[in-house]
Amino acid sequence: MQRRKPPPAAAPVAAKQAAQRRTPGPLSFAGALLSLLLVATFLYINDHGNIAKLPLARARSPDLRLLQEAAHHKVNSRHAPAPPPPPELDKDQQPLRLIDTPMSMSMSSSSASLEEVGGNRSSSSDEQAVKVCELYKGRWVYDAAGREAPLYRESECGFLTEQVTCMRNGRRDDSYQRWRWQPEGCDLPRFEARALLERLRNKRMMFVGDSLNRNQWESMVCLVQSAIPYAQKTLTKFVNNGSLNVFRAHEYNATVEFYWAPFLVQSNSDDPQVHSVRDRVIAWRSIAKHAANWKGVHYLVFNTYIWWLNNFNIKVLKNRGAPFAGWSSRYALVDRAIAYREVLKTWAKWVDRRIDPNKTQVFFMAMSPNHFMPEAWGGSAGAVKCAMETQPIVNRTRGGLDIGTDWRLHGVARGVLRSMRRVRVRFVDITALSELRKDAHTSVHTLRQGKLLTPDQQADPRTYADCIHWCLPGLPDTWNHFLYAHIVAHAG
Ligand SMILES: *[C@@H]1O[C@H](CO)[C@@H](O)[C@H](O)[C@H]1NC(C)=O
Ligand SMILES: *[C@@H]1O[C@H](CO)[C@@H](O)[C@H](O)[C@H]1NC(C)=O
Ligand SMILES: *[C@@H]1O[C@H](CO)[C@@H](O)[C@H](O)[C@H]1NC(C)=O
Ligand SMILES: *[C@@H]1O[C@H](CO)[C@@H](O)[C@H](O)[C@H]1NC(C)=O
Ligand SMILES: *[C@@H]1O[C@H](CO)[C@@H](O)[C@H](O)[C@H]1NC(C)=O
Repeated sequence: MQRRKPPPAAAPVAAKQAAQRRTPGPLSFAGALLSLLLVATFLYINDHGNIAKLPLARARSPDLRLLQEAAHHKVNSRHAPAPPPPPELDKDQQPLRLIDTPMSMSMSSSSASLEEVGGNRSSSSDEQAVKVCELYKGRWVYDAAGREAPLYRESECGFLTEQVTCMRNGRRDDSYQRWRWQPEGCDLPRFEARALLERLRNKRMMFVGDSLNRNQWESMVCLVQSAIPYAQKTLTKFVNNGSLNVFRAHEYNATVEFYWAPFLVQSNSDDPQVHSVRDRVIAWRSIAKHAANWKGVHYLVFNTYIWWLNNFNIKVLKNRGAPFAGWSSRYALVDRAIAYREVLKTWAKWVDRRIDPNKTQVFFMAMSPNHFMPEAWGGSAGAVKCAMETQPIVNRTRGGLDIGTDWRLHGVARGVLRSMRRVRVRFVDITALSELRKDAHTSVHTLRQGKLLTPDQQADPRTYADCIHWCLPGLPDTWNHFLYAHIVAHAG
């Protein structure tokens, strides 16, 4: 049994630090490059454990123009978010204040629904007033007493995989579990597993995407399973030739599922267990084979991001029939952002044609950021990637934080979602708020090739730290809390 430790003395330190100004500098370019290398290295090592065969080393020399474009995406992209206003210190001592381009959403305080789940917390005095709540704009608040975070304990969720059980894997500080997200103009409704399960009664919820969405799916399973007695819940992995994992709440006849499709469209990385291929190739018009598995689902949660970061140019088969002719057939090299747009257009077309908006709610998760560059957040001299980070980033300032997120893809996703005619897909904009959570990654407290890192490997974060995935309980619980706000409390 995992015992909870008292909050480490270090945690509240963040509350005392004043925000400082930082001017964006040459870091941007070097940073984007370095970040790309690190992500490529990590994904590759994770798959093969062999750094000598780095894909980048074999890749064609990248076009400098594209590199620069990537590095300066914030400046150049017309989809890029506006720079955030200068920081302010919060009056009640909460230092984290994220101001970014949020998705505006109105949280109608005909608060019947809110009160149902959350008591009076979120209701305004005027029942008719429509309160505008920007759910993704706000700040991280340290909940030392653990009253609202974490939403469950690591030891209480038997469905967690070893990949994410950081405390059990040797992490010492558990402060990363105690930050809760405080939206600026409202409160998140209190998370009630039973209320969500009622929504899911006789229904299916499915997460579709890459390993970050799997990370979030695991979180969702833990969030709902607490309300279900032993023996009335099961988890079945690798259903349907492997691509599908299904958690079932038997009494509710409800499922929470994960479907592996890291690029959403077909690719040669679709095998859920053996996807470490040397040359990643996608078929950007081919989605039917995967999508056949999404039909009839009532809550669909999509994502796709991390695998796009391996190269600036993506190998694409343009021909619809190509995957069946084999992945080694001819492909084109297409700029990442362009390929991403085409793939999302393929996906959007399917959603718009095949989804019944009266029956199914569709969500698209924004990009989950990586933390490979301590320089980007003013890390100490000896800092290595996200290893040893125990605090969120506190000094996000004007000019933004550049930790290497490809904001072009963020802009592309928003644009494609906006263009959809028939089905309204909600963009769950977790990117900027997650960028602050350098403390929340699995780092060296995780698996590599199915095995826990050895003490020697843990001592070598430069090679082994995973600064892509997240510990659970942890940040993905907050992402699911946003889904909860939409599904149960009808936010937006
Ligand atoms: C709700 O608000 C009313 C008055 O505004 C108060 O009397 C009651 O205790 C509140 N309920 C909860 C659960 O906070
Ligand atoms: C159970 O849920 C499925 C959808 O997941 C639905 O098709 C089926 O009708 C439900 N069964 C009952 C008895 O309601
Ligand atoms: C299941 O996987 C095997 C091996 O990868 C493949 O040959 C077969 O076509 C797959 N079946 C389906 C229904 O996708
Ligand atoms: C959804 O339901 C409304 C009202 O019942 C109906 O007017 C509309 O045509 C339905 N939309 C679709 C796409 O079926
Ligand atoms: C804030 O960021 C800057 C620039 O990255 C860094 O030099 C500084 O030490 C950071 N301040 C704190 C309190 O972390």
